[in-house]
Amino acid sequence: MKIIFATNNAHKLSEVQAVLGDGFTLVTPRECGITEDIPEDQDTLEGNASQKSHYLYDRTREDCFADDTGLEVEALGGAPGVHSARYATDGHDFDANNRLLLKNMEGKTNRKARFRTVISLIINGEEHQFEGIVEGRIIDHEIGHEGFGYDPMFIPDGYDRTFAQMTAEEKNAISHRGRAVKKLVAYLQSIEK
Ligand code: IMP
Repeated sequence: MKIIFATNNAHKLSEVQAVLGDGFTLVTPRECGITEDIPEDQDTLEGNASQKSHYLYDRTREDCFADDTGLEVEALGGAPGVHSARYATDGHDFDANNRLLLKNMEGKTNRKARFRTVISLIINGEEHQFEGIVEGRIIDHEIGHEGFGYDPMFIPDGYDRTFAQMTAEEKNAISHRGRAVKKLVAYLQSIEK
């Protein structure tokens, strides 16, 4: 089955493709001729995921999905949350975001955090949402070079390594996005489109 996924982020694309498996072929917005940035200006992950999937559906009328992810840090009142991509700057500057998070966490003893992903699927013109969460903690320096974004500072509960020290398979097995995508796959298989 072919399905459009609202991302041009190569990391995300390969993570999601790995969980979806061979039965699904992901198509990017660019491959559908959509070259502009897809708007995401809502104030919740649910709202942003929905806004992105509706944007794609309105242009293509094809089955599609979008995800939105936030890192929710307890000691920061849930920040950066829905603003995770633009925490430090207007762009997707991972290094600047990581530096700001480290600074804002200085002196905090409560290091609890979670990644939360919301996927919005539009299939046969109807929207369905799936959520994936991984709980963990923020350490006080960056370790590891795998993955992307906040991965070098996040250690999932039950592990002693950051997401950036894990292989893609290890991260996918327990990650927020991996969990949300597994729910998406289960749903797609249940309707046997
Ligand atoms: P997006 O909505 O999935 O684009 O995610 C927003 C921001 O959250 C990204 O720019 C990254 O900084 C961060 N992020 C999303 N997913 C991950 C992940 O799997 N690991 C680390 N950071 C992530």
